Amino acid sequence: MADTAAQHWAEVYTRRGDTQVSWFTADPACSLELIGAADPRLPAVDIGAGASRLVDALLDRGFTDLTALDVSDDGLAHSRARLGAAADRVHWVVTDVLDWAPDRRFGLWHDRAVFHFLTDPADRQRYRDLLRVALAPGALVVVGTFAADGPEYCSGLPTARYSPDELAAALGDLEVVERRREEHRTPAGGVQPFTWLALRS
Ligand SMILES: C[S@@+](CC[C@H](N)C(=O)[O-])C[C@H]1O[C@@H](n2cnc3c(N)ncnc32)[C@H](O)[C@@H]1O
Repeated sequence: MADTAAQHWAEVYTRRGDTQVSWFTADPACSLELIGAADPRLPAVDIGAGASRLVDALLDRGFTDLTALDVSDDGLAHSRARLGAAADRVHWVVTDVLDWAPDRRFGLWHDRAVFHFLTDPADRQRYRDLLRVALAPGALVVVGTFAADGPEYCSGLPTARYSPDELAAALGDLEVVERRREEHRTPAGGVQPFTWLALRS
């Protein structure tokens, strides 16, 4: 399964590059606003980081313990190339998040547009189990998914869509501290509504 997923996403990045994928944004503003003034000494992980510019922005904010995880190395490779020498300051992890067994805990967990691909309840349970073992006490969790009126598919895969309350329930026993709606503009000019939550463990 992981190989199939890795191949699927590798093909998407090969076909579209990093800036023509539907989720591309040059400025991960929602993520950064919800991360707010989080302590940059916190160990931070970006789940399904792909080629996202979030890692650049967190390095700029002084984060010193950053992990970028993705099932495909192809998106991550764009980020490493873009960052140059600064790429050495990031831990790059290639795995399906559902197969990941972290050996440490994180104070900041970020996921933009990955959780919504978990359409099987058993996979969502696995993700909740992972949160339980991977989050430090009081960790900040920032998750963005397609909104309830968002697209039913992304990159040929079905998505689960969430209102803020549905997303909070799906993520389990975390305290919601902020909720947002974003109208993401795709490179092709479309609009994709997102639901964002910031939560505390
Ligand atoms: C829609 S893209 C979002 C990328 C990035 N978060 C952003 O905002 O630019 C989804 C990313 O998650 C990765 N991905 C999808 N399913 C995954 C899984 N089960 N485990 C880890 N990464 C996954 C894909 O390879 C892709 O890079």
